[in-house]
Amino acid sequence: MKLLVIGGGRFVGRHLVEAALARGHEVTVFNRGLSAPPPPGVTALAGDRRQDLSALRGGRWDAAVDTCGYLPREVAAMAAALDAAVGRYLFVSSVSVYASFASPNDESSATGTIEDPDTEVVDGRTYGPLKALCEQALLSRLGAARSTIVRPGLVVGPLDPTQRFTYWPARIARATGGEPVLMPGDPGDAVQFIDARDLAAFMLGLLEAGRGGIFNAASPPGQWCFGDVVEACTAVSGRRLRRVWADAPTIERLGLKAWVDLPLWLPPQGAYAAFMRSDVSAALSAGLQIRPLGGTVADTLAWHRALPPAEQAFTLAGLTPERESDALQALR
Ligand SMILES: NC(=O)c1ccc[n+]([C@@H]2O[C@H](COP(=O)([O-])OP(=O)(O)OC[C@H]3O[C@@H](n4cnc5c(N)ncnc54)[C@H](OP(=O)(O)O)[C@@H]3O)[C@@H](O)[C@H]2O)c1
Repeated sequence: MKLLVIGGGRFVGRHLVEAALARGHEVTVFNRGLSAPPPPGVTALAGDRRQDLSALRGGRWDAAVDTCGYLPREVAAMAAALDAAVGRYLFVSSVSVYASFASPNDESSATGTIEDPDTEVVDGRTYGPLKALCEQALLSRLGAARSTIVRPGLVVGPLDPTQRFTYWPARIARATGGEPVLMPGDPGDAVQFIDARDLAAFMLGLLEAGRGGIFNAASPPGQWCFGDVVEACTAVSGRRLRRVWADAPTIERLGLKAWVDLPLWLPPQGAYAAFMRSDVSAALSAGLQIRPLGGTVADTLAWHRALPPAEQAFTLAGLTPERESDALQALR
């Protein structure tokens, strides 16, 4: 298959490029050239999708995967530019498209809306509704028959720039001699995510099979709980630690934020109660395979440990040792 990856320089796109090469596909990437250069054998086209798509002119691909569409106008422009150039267009969306997370969503659940659909501010409030509008922009240009939409849950694994999952393998690997480690909620609280490499394999499988449709993509709801992540991290690093669980009111009282300070966890009651319980049965029927948790933990930790020391600091998610120590002190 001749495959065009829009983005392709980091995380999801990078894993996709490597998996596509390993499966014998011919790969072109289109990006600004600011991220890592592509691996050998990949054709690189340079351009800023928000301004100049001319580098795509004259190309022909069996499929395109859009890994970095956030504004409806940029997806509309890309779909128009590729209409005559690709057979299928796969858009990487998100489970954040849904209007509510009070109960589990499947692909038919209502998507969120936004007051100003032309906003170019992508933040926690606008990201999901804008992704929903991006999906609509694609569908209205190429139609359902040539469009595939994948809505990943939290994406994790090596190369993850967000630090949200990586915090836990790294934090637990730092524990020495039974030290206390602050844990959110309860070991039985739901978690749901997908290793970027499983996401890449799933998307390639859909393209190889020529499958259209909309697919939530994540581990099956209920497959893992937060305690499983902790156990996997403990097993991989071989550390001994004392787990100090703090429930949602305690976390709030400590002035800590779920998802950010204590990542990968959302309070089991409240507006995001079902954020990590999306229905993924359509994806499983279409071939989604989820690797064992220990593999994701081990590979993420190995990748993190190989980063330059300055990049190992948790600046985007998780607690600094000082903040965690203050919180543990307050719980005594
Ligand atoms: N991380 C998660 O948990 C999660 C969950 C659900 C869905 N998603 C979705 O997964 C997708 C992939 O996320 P990601 O973090 O791997 O990648 P990303 O940050 O969305 O995309 C990075 C890639 O896009 C290229 N790029 C960025 N802006 C560009 C522009 N204006 N023109 C051309 N290329 C541009 C970058 O290369 P250059 O910098 O070289 O241009 C790089 O190769 C996103 O659509 C995201 O919404 C992520």
